[in-house]
Amino acid sequence: MHKKVKKAVFPVAGLGTRFLPATKSIPKEMLTVIDRPLIQYAVEEAKAAGIEEFIFVTGRGKSALEDFFDYSYELNETLKHRGNKQDLDAVNHVVLDPGTVIYTRQQEPLGLGHAVWCARHLVKDEPFAVLLADDLIEAKKPCLKQMVEAYEECASNVVALMEVDAKESSSYGMVRPGVGQDKTVKIEGVVEKPAPKDSPSNLAIVGRYILHSDIFDALESVRAGKNGEIQLTDAISQLLKRQEFYGLKFDGARYDCGSKHGLIEATIEMALNRPDMASEVRSIIKQMVNKK
Ligand code: UTP
Repeated sequence: MHKKVKKAVFPVAGLGTRFLPATKSIPKEMLTVIDRPLIQYAVEEAKAAGIEEFIFVTGRGKSALEDFFDYSYELNETLKHRGNKQDLDAVNHVVLDPGTVIYTRQQEPLGLGHAVWCARHLVKDEPFAVLLADDLIEAKKPCLKQMVEAYEECASNVVALMEVDAKESSSYGMVRPGVGQDKTVKIEGVVEKPAPKDSPSNLAIVGRYILHSDIFDALESVRAGKNGEIQLTDAISQLLKRQEFYGLKFDGARYDCGSKHGLIEATIEMALNRPDMASEVRSIIKQMVNKK
């Protein structure tokens, strides 16, 4: 029997340079879509998929993120005193249970692969999920839950896949899928950020992974050979020689909140999906469009 996926790693140690100067003092993962930071969406998705242990790989200047998931004594007392139950529920809802959250540090932002590798002693020899908070995924059934179900069927590594325009291949890890498969495709190969003419397909890996702990050995050897950033895709490519990887074309919409336009798109879409905001936001957009 394969082990259940109970641990999730959230790499949040990147510099977020595309959002400078905001990210000089605010972690990128704390940027908000309406009234929640990106990291909250990712943590809630993980909880809904049955994750019990939350491992954050943080860096310098990320303490706002730790405080966010912690109990805030002064705020709670003030809200209690004011009898503000709704806000009190909202702040209490995000507090993670004692003993279920672990923070470790990536001292230098040496890439996503390196950040994941920093969690090796916490994950140990269990299968684990990786969620990139800047990939916000809206789905009826949370994306990671769909992936856990796929993992339970194939008992192997699973990555989230999305179709992208050919010209966008140089922004993603692109996969070479096996032939004749449907939603869950067997992956034959991966290429990190290929030029459109070199891309093996239009299927890109987006920020959700369920990985076997052997990925740490693969990351170790990739690490040894590089001076610059260590890519997770390179380690996947290496592990593909000895293990199976499947790609899940998940149901849902993904927003690239690591980019300015993606964060704006997510904010508009999510607002239009919220009953408490939709009509007001729709009329604001209409007025704006009419003026242009
Ligand atoms: P990105 O490459 O999108 O994030 O990494 P970045 O480097 O912070 O952003 P830009 O390009 O400078 O604007 C995806 C995820 O991996 C984490 C980031 O925090 C983000 O959640 N990451 C990236 C790390 O934890 N460590 C790294 O060294 C790099």
